[in-house]
Amino acid sequence: MTWIRNSLFPSSVIIIVVGVIIALTYQSILKPPPPKLCGSPGGPPITAPRLKLRDGRNLAYKEHGLPRKKANHKIIFIHGSDSCRHDAVFATLLSPDLVDELSVYMVSFDKPGYGESDPDPNRTPKSLVLDIEELADYLSLGSKFYVLGYSMGEQATWGCLKYIPHRLAGVTLVSPVVNYWWKNLPLNVSTEGFNLQPKRNQWAVRVAHYAPWLIYWWNTQNWFSGSSVANRDHSILSKADKVRS
Ligand SMILES: *[C@@H]1O[C@H](CO)[C@@H](O)[C@H](O)[C@H]1NC(C)=O
Repeated sequence: MTWIRNSLFPSSVIIIVVGVIIALTYQSILKPPPPKLCGSPGGPPITAPRLKLRDGRNLAYKEHGLPRKKANHKIIFIHGSDSCRHDAVFATLLSPDLVDELSVYMVSFDKPGYGESDPDPNRTPKSLVLDIEELADYLSLGSKFYVLGYSMGEQATWGCLKYIPHRLAGVTLVSPVVNYWWKNLPLNVSTEGFNLQPKRNQWAVRVAHYAPWLIYWWNTQNWFSGSSVANRDHSILSKADKVRS
């Protein structure tokens, strides 16, 4: 009995200590710091119009182009990673003449957790699509509207095609980020696309696919190169694009 007690005691202590270390490591390294809600004490101020969604979250948006009642083409713009509602280049760089001629109204919004939109801890591919549909209905964009997804905004655009195809007048994907594990892409095409990326991005994509819980740490540690996109490394860009960015 004494032998069992003596041997149980140290191993349970070791398990507890290791558990506490793992929990602390998880909290401090693997998870991003908690967000500061816009408009909360100590948080950033609210400057954008926002709508309250079905679960109480706020979604910030920004309108561009013609007034929505006048326009024939109503477009919802979905931004990519590391950007927000202000980065709606397809709206902001169009000349007023072209906006008039094409009769375009565009609305961009901050995806949950970006800019001035509250984070959505329960976010799924479908919940993001429901946010977009709620935004469209809040702004009375009609029974059908256009969706334009840029870069990582492509994920939500695919979601719209899957979950609300009956609400779409049309869809555009601009330089979309693909999932190399999608089964309905021909394997030789996904493999070629995967291999065209810099090695560091191949690894970042592998980690995101096989160990998503590790991706925040992967892209913030300094031991080796994380994603060039997350680290804002512009060496992959052409000379002309480097000048612009
Ligand atoms: C992939 O394979 C198909 C069928 O064999 C072929 O037609 C296509 O050109 C290939 N694509 C690439 C990028 O290798």
